[in-house]
Amino acid sequence: MKLNILILASIVCCGQTKKLPEFLKPFRCSISKDLQNCYIKNANKAIPLVVEGIPDYKVPKMNPFLVPFVQLISTPSLRLNLTNVKIHNLKNMKLIQIRFDWKKNIYSYEFFCDNIKIDGMYAVDGNVLVLPIKGNGPFVIYLKNGSYNFTMSPNLTDRNGERYYHIEDTRMNYHFDDVNFEFKNLFDGNKQLGDEMNKFLNENWEPLLADFGPGISKTISSIITQFMQAFLKEIPHSEIFLD
Ligand SMILES: *[C@@H]1O[C@H](CO)[C@@H](O)[C@H](O)[C@H]1NC(C)=O
Ligand SMILES: *[C@@H]1O[C@H](CO)[C@@H](O)[C@H](O)[C@H]1NC(C)=O
Ligand SMILES: *[C@@H]1O[C@H](CO)[C@@H](O)[C@H](O)[C@H]1NC(C)=O
Ligand SMILES: *[C@@H]1O[C@H](CO)[C@@H](O)[C@H](O)[C@H]1NC(C)=O
Repeated sequence: MKLNILILASIVCCGQTKKLPEFLKPFRCSISKDLQNCYIKNANKAIPLVVEGIPDYKVPKMNPFLVPFVQLISTPSLRLNLTNVKIHNLKNMKLIQIRFDWKKNIYSYEFFCDNIKIDGMYAVDGNVLVLPIKGNGPFVIYLKNGSYNFTMSPNLTDRNGERYYHIEDTRMNYHFDDVNFEFKNLFDGNKQLGDEMNKFLNENWEPLLADFGPGISKTISSIITQFMQAFLKEIPHSEIFLD
């Protein structure tokens, strides 16, 4: 994930009307002139810089990106909490395509990253597909060749003579070539049961994502929406584009 935060986080934070950070100004594009090419090219130059964080604008370092706690799955059949989550390799995220449908007010951004690594601590309890699962400990997840498509319908609001973006929700869909899980210390550290469960999860990542993916992408999207909204309410539209 992570992702269009990078672009929009660049547009940034806090207090009164803010200017775009100096180092991002060269990456601005003109809406009326070759927007698509300019935006994709410049976003890809800006991503590795922005993921290092912009302290003056309260943009955190995103290399790795830290999520202290997320209740990732919370259904009657399965509960999965993650803490101290670190998302690695966002600096290699590439913006592949953008579509701005001004008439319908739908903006979409498609990103690609060959290998995202997520690690941290998990606590799980319930059933996956048909098998009971229980445990807590360290985990690692690899998302291989991931495409991430974010869609939003931002709303421009007027304040003090400036227009600001307001994002109410972001939707995300994704595609992976492969997903790898490693949950350590499942079943109170019973190695045989733990190994079998990890093998089962790795063989069944597609049906698992079909079951749990929509809930997970909702969670991720709401984190991203809050995050972008906090930043975008501070930087007026006139600072974001050249025209
Ligand atoms: C993202 O997905 C939406 C809905 O599936 C689609 O309409 C849009 O064209 C996609 N955007 C990109 C940039 O691929
Ligand atoms: C997940 O976190 C919630 C809220 O803190 C807690 O109520 C629940 O018991 C946790 N679930 C697991 C499996 O640890
Ligand atoms: C646009 O954002 C404003 C400001 O929060 C909100 O009150 C309004 O309902 C939004 N309009 C639409 C069409 O979403
Ligand atoms: C990822 O894509 C590359 C290039 O298309 C391909 O060589 C590689 O096998 C893919 N990885 C996986 C895990 O499918």
